[in-house]
This record gives sequence, structure tokens and C-alpha cells, in this order.
Amino acid sequence: MKFFVDTADIGDIRELNATGLLDGVTTNPSLILKSGRNILEVTKEICAEVDGPVSAEVAASDYETIMKEAAVLSKIADNICIKLPLTMDGLKACKALTSDGYKTNVTLCFSANQALLAAKAGATFISPFIGRLDDMAINGMELIGEIRTIYDNYGFSTEILAASIRTVNHVKEAALIGADVATIPPSTLKALVKHPLTDKGLEQFTADWAKTGQNIAG
Ligand code: E4P
Repeated sequence: MKFFVDTADIGDIRELNATGLLDGVTTNPSLILKSGRNILEVTKEICAEVDGPVSAEVAASDYETIMKEAAVLSKIADNICIKLPLTMDGLKACKALTSDGYKTNVTLCFSANQALLAAKAGATFISPFIGRLDDMAINGMELIGEIRTIYDNYGFSTEILAASIRTVNHVKEAALIGADVATIPPSTLKALVKHPLTDKGLEQFTADWAKTGQNIAG
């Protein structure tokens, strides 16, 4: 499973990228707002930092303006992935952009039929939003499973990018169901490594090692 980080905070991105665990980045207009940065400037910095795909989202909703915005965003760097809304205009743009060789991420997916349309439009990634469905008492993880089945039934190459992840259990369940990618907020990504028994065991080993009086590193 690939790990993307879901943020436009360049500090968090640098810190996580240094671990070697990061495969890409996703942003959206709300995350750009939170960063307080200019979209073109911050996205260029992120693209230079990370080797994998960096999703930058269009703000327009009509096909012509989406394509104009996509033309600007696609010039930022070679690893840009154009993030498009799951609407007829967004899907039309997805078809055009993927046909021209651009990477695309169709976002705000809340149903299996929407995901089917995105795959037919040639999307590189489909982003089903788990947390926002859970917020409405609808099991977001079931949607990931449905999309996995449909994509496998027809051999679609669109990658399932589990989005709107809120908990470490979301990451585990998405991996078990077979999502190709999870885009994870920085705090949740850092929490994946945590286990109280790891901390307790390490504390014991460190104390016992000190008692041996030995030194490996010299
Ligand atoms: C995905 O690409 C979105 O940027 C993100 O995962 C949305 O998450 P939220 O529902 O927590 O805002």
C-alpha cells in the first residue's frame, strides 16, 4: 500500500519524506487555506520535495475553466496530479487530461457508481472519502470494498486512494480491503508507529543495556 500525506504543510511533508515512507501528497482548497500559502508557490515546493504524485485541485466547476486551471497546475512540475471533482464536467476533464498523458485524481467520491464512472474516464486515482461517510453513520469502508470488487471485476487500472482518513484503524482496514493508496493526515501517519508495548519493551531494554556497561557505537 502506498502512503500519501494529506496536507499542504511543507514542514510536515519534509519531516515525513525524510523517513522514506512517503509515496506522494494530496492537497485540497481547504488544506491550501490552512497553509496560508499561495497555491502555485506551495505546490511547487511540495513537488520539488517529494518524488511521487502531488495532487493539486482545480477550483472551477465548469469544463472550460477546469481545463484552463489544469493547464496552469500541470506546468508546476512533472509529478503534478490534477485533482478533479466527481461531476460530469470533472469527468469530461478527466478523460481529456488522461488522454493527453496527465495524472488525474477524481475527488469527492461517495458511491461505487461514481467510482465506476471515474475509472471509465481513465482516472489515475479515485478518492473515496471514508471519514465523511462515517460522519453520516454510513460505513465508509464498505465503499472501499465495493470499489475494489468492481475494479477487479473489470480490470480497471485506476488506483483506489482511500481519503478522508481520520484514524489509524481506517488505515488498517483500508489496507485489509485492498485500497492501493491511503492519504493520511500527518498526525495519523505519525501515530501508526505507536504501540505502548513497544515503548515499554524499549524502556526495559534500554535500562538493562545500561547495566551491561557495554557500548556498540564506540
Ligand atoms: C483527499 O484527497 C482529501 O484532501 C481529504 O482526505 C479530505 O479529508 P477530510 O474529510 O478530513 O477533510
